[in-house]
Amino acid sequence: MRRLLFAANWKMHLGPDEARAYLKTFRATYHRREDRDVWFFPPAVSLEAAAQAVRERTDLVVGVQDIHWEPKGAFTGAISAPLAAQAGAKAALVGHSERRHVFGETDEDTRRKVAAVLATPLQPVLCVGETLPEREAGHTLAVVHRQLAGALGRLDAAKLAHVTIAYEPVWAIGTGRNATPRDAGVVHREIRTWLAGRGAAPTAARVLYGGSVNAKNIAELLAEPQLDGVLVGGASLDPAAWAQLVQTAAA
Ligand code: PGA
Repeated sequence: MRRLLFAANWKMHLGPDEARAYLKTFRATYHRREDRDVWFFPPAVSLEAAAQAVRERTDLVVGVQDIHWEPKGAFTGAISAPLAAQAGAKAALVGHSERRHVFGETDEDTRRKVAAVLATPLQPVLCVGETLPEREAGHTLAVVHRQLAGALGRLDAAKLAHVTIAYEPVWAIGTGRNATPRDAGVVHREIRTWLAGRGAAPTAARVLYGGSVNAKNIAELLAEPQLDGVLVGGASLDPAAWAQLVQTAAA
């Protein structure tokens, strides 16, 4: 049976005090379920506060939204995977659509970042997904292949098994417009085929869907057996509502 992953990407919201208050409410509202994991990606300044707030709940994990590929050095404003680990992170997003499209991150950047994360105990979550013009031109699968090959193409099967992949179509992020479960399923199958072609078991890596996931559409999305979970932005910002969603989805 798949073990579902519910990942909350707070983006540029919730400073340390707010993170503590959020997680207090979440802990009080969400009761551990053995069939799911819950990961939180706070902004870097709130990592330590968030990690402290969940330290007695092994079912709750905190991760970092982005890292630099070097472990340390003269990179003003950047943080590395080892530094995030010191602050309590156990996972790291790589190549989120906003990193790619707002900050100009390239496939080569994502390759270096995944390698940097894999050199630490952190678990990488690689985000992939096409823009609307790419989808309309029929290039969705080609774009996803390019992003997978760019970031993961040099990894062996053992390393690939440590990577979580989030398919997040750019046109669905923060827009209120989600992919249909069927559309997501098609891309997820393609991702698993790509992994199998690299010698990894198709189910070795968890494959998540993200893009305007909320309490209204979560049930039909998780009814698609290709989805191992979700990566959620906007609908994860209210702790009680997010706790309710995680507690009851696919119950
Ligand atoms: P959204 O964001 O749920 O607000 O669309 C998802 C994401 O960017 O990971």
